[in-house]
Amino acid sequence: MSNLNDRNIIITGASGGIGRASALLFAKAGARVVLLDRDVPGIEETAGLVTGGGGKAYLIPCDITDEDAVSHAVNDVVKQFGRLHGAFNNAGVEHTNLPLHELSAAAWDRVLKIDLTGVFYCMKHQIRAMLESGGGSIVNTASALGTVAISAASDYVAAKHGVIGITKGAAVDYGTQNIRVNAIMPGIVETPMVARVSAEPHFAKQYQALRERHPIGRFGKPEEIAKAAIWLLSDDSSFVTGTALAVDGGYLSI
Ligand SMILES: NC(=O)c1ccc[n+]([C@@H]2O[C@H](COP(=O)([O-])OP(=O)(O)OC[C@H]3O[C@@H](n4cnc5c(N)ncnc54)[C@H](O)[C@@H]3O)[C@@H](O)[C@H]2O)c1
Repeated sequence: MSNLNDRNIIITGASGGIGRASALLFAKAGARVVLLDRDVPGIEETAGLVTGGGGKAYLIPCDITDEDAVSHAVNDVVKQFGRLHGAFNNAGVEHTNLPLHELSAAAWDRVLKIDLTGVFYCMKHQIRAMLESGGGSIVNTASALGTVAISAASDYVAAKHGVIGITKGAAVDYGTQNIRVNAIMPGIVETPMVARVSAEPHFAKQYQALRERHPIGRFGKPEEIAKAAIWLLSDDSSFVTGTALAVDGGYLSI
């Protein structure tokens, strides 16, 4: 596995799912993990798991839809640890689960604010810090739904397409300043988010069909996304920027 020795790395959405698995594996790969989430008991639990395994964790309660809170979080990392080497912008929420003509403006705004604007706030302040310290690597969690769609998920699909767009835009802007920016497109991964969504009647109908759409014959595990993120954050991917890497059990190949 690639190493992240002595890197200070922010993980958003670190209270559970892909974010928690990433915290544990990034710490094992040598990073100091900075855990951001609006779910404070959740990141306290993640921090306990990291330090219990001998890793280094620092937690910052933060709602990524609050730009001031995001800016303070990045400043805090620089103040405490000297610099920010990497970030995994992974926090997100699921779709509202309504067809577009039934989607309220408020529901649309909520999903877009967390899943896209929150990523913009994080990237903006992370890049600012990285420009001052010689560079870094940013990985955003998009989705296979950043390039295709499922039914009744236009809000989420639009946001995740946007995450891939902002990833490419930033890769172009900052490549010569030693800042690499990539995205991961997970297929369906067994996390609390998927447990919530699959409990909804509309999605329950699609669930079996979606499993069959993964040629590998199963859904993913959070650790399988974390391992791809480690590679993209590490120097082993030094010539990779602006890419959206599918980690999807073949979902996008069908
Ligand atoms: N699980 C999947 O199948 C799947 C597939 C593709 C993409 N994704 C993406 O992976 C990422 C992680 O999802 P997950 O499945 O682990 O979900 P999850 O619900 O288990 O975790 C999401 C985390 O984000 C945090 N969060 C939500 N809104 C926040 C906010 N405003 N500020 C700070 N933190 C916030 C939550 O508290 C939670 O800890 C998301 O971006 C999701 O869209 C998941």
